[in-house]
Amino acid sequence: MGARHYSPEQIEAWAGPRVSAARLGAMYGDGRTTFIAVDVKDKPVAFSDMEADGHVDMLYCHPAQAGRGVASLLLAAIDGAARQAGLSRLHAEASETARPVFERAGYRMVMRRDFEIEGVAMHNWKMEKQV
Ligand SMILES: CC(C)(COP(=O)(O)OP(=O)(O)OC[C@H]1O[C@@H](n2cnc3c(N)ncnc32)[C@H](O)[C@@H]1OP(=O)(O)O)[C@@H](O)C(=O)NCCC(=O)NCCS
Repeated sequence: MGARHYSPEQIEAWAGPRVSAARLGAMYGDGRTTFIAVDVKDKPVAFSDMEADGHVDMLYCHPAQAGRGVASLLLAAIDGAARQAGLSRLHAEASETARPVFERAGYRMVMRRDFEIEGVAMHNWKMEKQV
């Protein structure tokens, strides 16, 4: 889905060798709350997370299930979890692809973020929402 908005070079820099099972395992062992959407056969189709400070770090949907509101459902679940945790604010760095999904979920754009990964220029959007 990211290919709609990012070049192959940008996708490789973002999701290539620097993403490993070990790195993801370490990330998901840091106490964050993980949200996993499953299909009717209990197969995972999308996931997201919420860190203790209200940071929504990851949001991914399997391309075969995209465009059906699954990511939007995950963001709604995160809203509920944030309120339960007593948080007043959620924030994220949304990809160009995810920005409209966050906007529909009530996040507002704070600023564009331009940065480099391994020499490749990237951008995303700092977004936030009061809950
Ligand atoms: C961004 C991403 C998570 C969105 O997942 P998704 O499940 O397809 O998102 P949704 O279905 O909630 O919304 C996506 C589209 O489906 C449409 N849609 C269809 N049915 C819908 C429904 N019932 N409810 C809400 N949206 C619906 C929306 O209008 C939306 O269209 P738009 O984005 O062109 O405006 C997914 O595209 C992805 O994994 N992208 C690659 C990774 C990435 O960029 N992750 C974000 C990191 S911050």
